[in-house]
This record gives sequence, C-alpha cells and structure tokens, in this order.
Amino acid sequence: MTTIAGRADLDVELLAARQRYAERRPVTARMHEEAREVMPGGNTRTVLYHGPFPLRMARGWGSRLVDVDGIEYVDMLGEYTAGLYGHSQAAILDAVRAAMDDGLSLAGHNVYEGRLARLLVDRYPALDLVRFTNSGTEANLMAVSLARVVTGRPAVAVAYGGYHGGLLYFGGGGSPVNAPYETVLMTFNDIEGSRAVLRANADRLAAVVVEPVLGSAGCIPADPAYLAMLREETASLGIMLIFDEVMTSRLSPEGAGAAYGVTPDLMTLGKYLGGGLSFGAFGGRAELMRRFDPTAPDALPHAGTFNNNVLTMAAGVAGLTKVLSDEALLELNARGERMRDRLNEVVAPHGWIATGRGSMVGLHPVTHPVTRPEDLADADDRLRELLFLDLLERGYYMARRGFVALSLEITDADVDGFVDAVRDSLRERSGERPVDRVAADLFEQGVGPAEGPRAEEATVGRHRAGMRARDHRSVLK
Ligand SMILES: Cc1ncc(COP(=O)(O)O)c(C=O)c1O
Repeated sequence: MTTIAGRADLDVELLAARQRYAERRPVTARMHEEAREVMPGGNTRTVLYHGPFPLRMARGWGSRLVDVDGIEYVDMLGEYTAGLYGHSQAAILDAVRAAMDDGLSLAGHNVYEGRLARLLVDRYPALDLVRFTNSGTEANLMAVSLARVVTGRPAVAVAYGGYHGGLLYFGGGGSPVNAPYETVLMTFNDIEGSRAVLRANADRLAAVVVEPVLGSAGCIPADPAYLAMLREETASLGIMLIFDEVMTSRLSPEGAGAAYGVTPDLMTLGKYLGGGLSFGAFGGRAELMRRFDPTAPDALPHAGTFNNNVLTMAAGVAGLTKVLSDEALLELNARGERMRDRLNEVVAPHGWIATGRGSMVGLHPVTHPVTRPEDLADADDRLRELLFLDLLERGYYMARRGFVALSLEITDADVDGFVDAVRDSLRERSGERPVDRVAADLFEQGVGPAEGPRAEEATVGRHRAGMRARDHRSVLK
C-alpha cells in the first residue's frame, strides 16, 4: 500500500479530501450555486463558509444533523455554543409552541421577559439589572456604549484576537467592518504588558472587554491572575470591566467570571440562554444599568423591535427552569474536561493540542502551549481543513477552525466515537495508516493544486468510498 510520508504533499491530500466532499454532496453543490446568484458567495454568516462549498443542513434532532444530501452527522459544534440544548429539546419546543399559540409580535411587554430577567439576575452575581437584545454582538455594542456614556471616555481596550461579535472582532488587530470605536489592543494573559497598556491609556479608556476564556480565538483560558489584574487596574483607573460571557457563561452555573472569582461592572450574554433562538443580553451594576430606566430624566434609549420577542423569551425561561439544572451543566463541563484530556493523549503524538475549558474545546495543529491567540499564528490552516473534512467523512461535525462545543445531548458514546475519529484521521494522515488512495495516486502522478486555477476545480479520479456517515436521504422528503 502506498503511503505519503510527511506533510510535503498536504496540498494534494487536501485536494482529494475536497474532491471527495464535493462528490458526495451534489444537492449541496446545486443549492450553493443557486444561493450564489442572490447572496455574495451564497453566504449570510461568514463563519459558516468553507471550501469547496459549505455544508447545508436540512434538519436536526437531539445531537444529530442531516445535510441536504441526506448525510447524518453527530453535532459536536453545538451551534458555536448556542445549541447547548440540542436541536429538539421537548420542554423548549413546547414552550415555543405555547408562546406561538398566544400570538407573535405583540408590541407590548409580555409575560416572559420579567421571568427570564429574574432567572438571569438570580443566576449571575454580576447582574443586578439586565436588558435584552437580539444578539451577542448587540449586547456588547450596548455595554460598550453605556461604558462610554458613564465614563465620558471614548476608547475600549480588547485582547488581540478577541471576538465580541461581527462589529467587534480583533483577529489580525481588527476587522475593517468594526464599529468605529477607538480601540486599544492588549495581549491576552500578558499581565504586565496589559497593565501598562491600561495605565498608559487610562484617560481615554471607557472599558475593557474580555472573555474569561477566549472562545472564537481558540478556546484559550485566562490565567486567573490576568483577570484579577484587569479587575484591580480597571477599578483603580475608573475603567468599566466588561466580561463578554456570550460563550463562557456555560462554563459554570454562575458563569465563568464567577468561577474565576472576579465580578465585572458589566456582563454580556447570548447564545444558548435564548433556548436556541436569537438572543443577547447585557447587564451589571444597578447604578450603571439604571441609566436605561425610561422614567429617569436623562434616560438612555435602548431600542430593538425584537428585544423581548415572545419566542426567545419563552424558550429561554423553559431552558433555565426545565432543562439546565446545575447538575446537568456541571456534568456537561466535566464531560468536556474528560474529552479534552483524551484528545490530548491521541493528538499530541501527531503535533496537535486540545485547548479550552469545560465543554468548549479547541483543536490546533501546534505543539507548543497556547496561552494567547498569537500562539496560533504558526498553525498550518490546511491541517485544520483536512481534519474538518476527515471528520465530516466519518460523520462528525465540528467547526472548520477546530472548535467543539458540547451540547447536553452529546453522550459518552458520542465522545468516544469523536475521539476515535480524530485519532484515526491523524494516524492515517501521518502515514501510520494507509492514506487515501486518490491522494497517493495524485502524488505518484505529480498532480497538485498548482496545475489548476483553484484546488477545488482540479480534476481527480474516482476514489474509494470509505464513508462512515450514514445515508439519510429518506428523511428529507
Ligand atoms: C464571545 C462572543 N461574543 C459575542 C458574540 C456575538 O454573538 P452573536 O453572534 O449572537 O451576535 C459571539 C459569537 O460567537 C461570541 O462568541
């Protein structure tokens, strides 16, 4: 059996993996082409795009997803943490149906919003008062805007690489479509460097926004001393400390900040707390949040047609009262810890590392410790794509960038299967096992992506099937 030694022909392996992906998904390909006629790149949420054309899901239940070509996956992505309850939790679906029965878009305060607010305020020590938005992005924009008003200062300090929404993204230093706030960059977990940045910019800094565990930036936990330093410095410099817990609130019943023993001035929430529907929230110290009290003479406006939409509010209440017990959340995060330990055992020999905390896991093709996003700069993105495609082939869906977020529906057996799939892929690709026939043939023929204008357009021969994902075309009727 021919094997490819080393990584010299990674491009060829990737080409073959993309080809196999494409060949199995003719319906996905056609729908993508149709969408491209009316949407730029056929896409409306950048993170979901991947080559050669993105997956298109037809339906989901529990922890399972089926794409439009009828291929089933174990969902290890959990909608980037928003899908904590899985795709069809009965108590949540019942609550949404009951809310629907009472009518949509009522243009009034409703019976759910006060209940959801009470649940959140009782749950998170940082929240005296809370308000709702439609997304985590909006929640962070509102929190930063509030900090700017109360401090009278213009700028916000963030960690390099941090992600706080589509308008507050600091990978590569900052996205061109960011909201036009003045920003100051810090290096995550660099205690003395960040302290110096805060002190040097104190007179113009309204807020520091940080995740206790960087999520999108690679699942990188803060050093407890880093968060303690941020709390101490911001308090003494009159800067608002905002914890973006859109993802990390799932890491303990009281949120990640509380688990670190640090209470911010403001906290933002999102994702799963809306039960799987569009959601965001921001809140914090009473004297700050009271600025939005409409009865105050100088009340700040906070608008949003769907801020209190009945479906999200009802789903959020059902999730917190009927599904997410403290025990369930603790067990979810313990399962994540166990999974990360096992992943590290199987990936380390192949030059990978598993990062994160609790139910949030990052898989990275690097061999050194990852304590800040900059540590991932030398990761070979082709390896990420190859693992992503290999796992799809084996029936497991995680983010293209190597992100995993467990849902409550994921079982130990699912975790076992996922760890095995990761191990098998990395072993196979490292030459410990026979590599894909197509890649081997291409390698022998000297065919590579350089011969075609785009890797996905290059022609490769038929390949062995070797598919483990089950075919569920029948459920698509
Ligand atoms: C930490 C963090 N903040 C904010 C957001 C933005 O939330 P949304 O996508 O609901 O706007 C995200 C989304 O992934 C996030 O991970």
